[in-house]
Amino acid sequence: TSDFFAEKYLHNQHWVITAGPTREAIDPVRYISNHSSGKMGYAIAHAALRAGAQVTLVSGPVNIAAPVGCRLIQVTSAEQMHQQVLANVKQATTFVACAAVADYRVANIADEKIKKDNEQMQISLIKNPDIVADVAKLANKPFTVGFAAETQNVEHYARGKLMRKNLDLIAANDVAIAGQGFNSDDNALTLYSTIDKIDIPLANKQIVAKQLVSLINQYYLAKNN
Ligand code: CTP
Ligand code: CA
Repeated sequence: TSDFFAEKYLHNQHWVITAGPTREAIDPVRYISNHSSGKMGYAIAHAALRAGAQVTLVSGPVNIAAPVGCRLIQVTSAEQMHQQVLANVKQATTFVACAAVADYRVANIADEKIKKDNEQMQISLIKNPDIVADVAKLANKPFTVGFAAETQNVEHYARGKLMRKNLDLIAANDVAIAGQGFNSDDNALTLYSTIDKIDIPLANKQIVAKQLVSLINQYYLAKNN
């Protein structure tokens, strides 16, 4: 609704948001990635902007335009995203990690296109840095919100990540349910804090994002007052 944004209730906040997939190069023409569309992260950036926040969007490669008014930092790999987030999050009040960061990168990226010389081949992978966990380790950490895309035991895994990564909130979605989450226009989330949980029912990602931004702000105000 127009009332929701009219108050500009985030006007003295700075949100840093990650969105989209990352790409991990194998050789000059190939990469490892995932099906993230970036829609949820871009919708959160849009909703935060409309509510008056200053927004920095650190995005992997996606096919959607950045919301007008945000500062867009485009990256490709998880290591680049990690570096850009840590360089830009120090002044932030709020960090929302919506990106589907590749968990592993290729150990030895080939300088030349790999030829199909053999019947089998192996690619060795190394774990990427955990961006949201590293933000939550900062001495002056912003209010830190993670996402958890799960296919089973959603609450158990989401709460595990909330605790392990020292997050303030985690938004979980069940990606095993068709029509929500990855690469979909719609989403349904459950937002977990250490003490409670709130369901955001299935709706267009723009609507879900608006509700999520408002809820994040409520928890942020409760923590900082
Ligand atoms: N995340 C991150 N950096 C990574 C991996 C994940 O910042 N290298 C963030 C995601 O943006 C998300 C949260 O961590 O906010 C959870 O991501 P998810 O993939 O669900 O969890 P992982 O910790 O990677 O564990 P797993 O994939 O094994 O479930
Ligand atoms: Ca992961």
